[in-house]
Amino acid sequence: MPYTRSQILLHWIVVLLLIPQFLLHDGMSHAFHQLMEGAGADYAPLVLQHIVTGLAVLALVLWRLVLRARVGAPPLPAQEPALMKLAAHATHWALYALLVLLPLSGLAAWFGQLGTAAEAHEIMKNILLALAGLHIAAALFHQFVLRTNLLARMRRPGAV
Ligand code: HEM
Ligand code: HEM
Repeated sequence: MPYTRSQILLHWIVVLLLIPQFLLHDGMSHAFHQLMEGAGADYAPLVLQHIVTGLAVLALVLWRLVLRARVGAPPLPAQEPALMKLAAHATHWALYALLVLLPLSGLAAWFGQLGTAAEAHEIMKNILLALAGLHIAAALFHQFVLRTNLLARMRRPGAV
């Protein structure tokens, strides 16, 4: 089954929502340090933005996982070596896991005032950045070096 319109839309909406989480986190980091020093929770606009956007990512990723269980995903290009297929699957599932665990660790850090959850949040956001970089590089490698037209799968439903 090719990716459906909903799966494609959700992939790109989640990508867009992740950008402010990485660019605008200063307000949240600052408020969290104040909270841990006993100053109380400060719901400044950037703190609310971080929480609401993070919760939206969580909800949309859970929706994606339900869709994936129901309609599946297209098989990887047939000519691809087994090791690359394994790497692609591992990366996709690791990305899904991180997109669930990152918001959950953030919630535990903020609402439970747990320093360890904040540390996990920070480590996982670094792993997410690294894997997203690998994923994007692999997509471009497929498109422009292997010329499998892989990007079409995530552009139009039923294209490939
Ligand atoms: C996909 C969703 C999310 C992403 C990508 C994300 C990303 C980030 C990033 C990049 C930072 C800065 C870490 C640093 O200081 O280097 C951060 C900090 C933080 N985030 Fe999130 N976040 C997400 C969801 C959430 C949610 C839902 C909450 C819930 C309240 C949250 C709570 C926090 C807290 C408390 C900090 C401060 C941690 C600290 O400075 O030690 N995050 N987040
Ligand atoms: C410019 C950026 C990106 C491009 C060009 C891109 C492209 C693609 C393509 C072509 C696929 C389909 C792969 C296949 O069918 O084998 C895919 C799947 C996927 N992408 Fe991306 N992606 C981008 C960014 C991201 C980011 C930032 C994330 C998450 C942090 C992400 C998460 C995923 C996941 C989890 C899948 C697997 C979908 C599934 O099979 O259920 N992507 N992406």
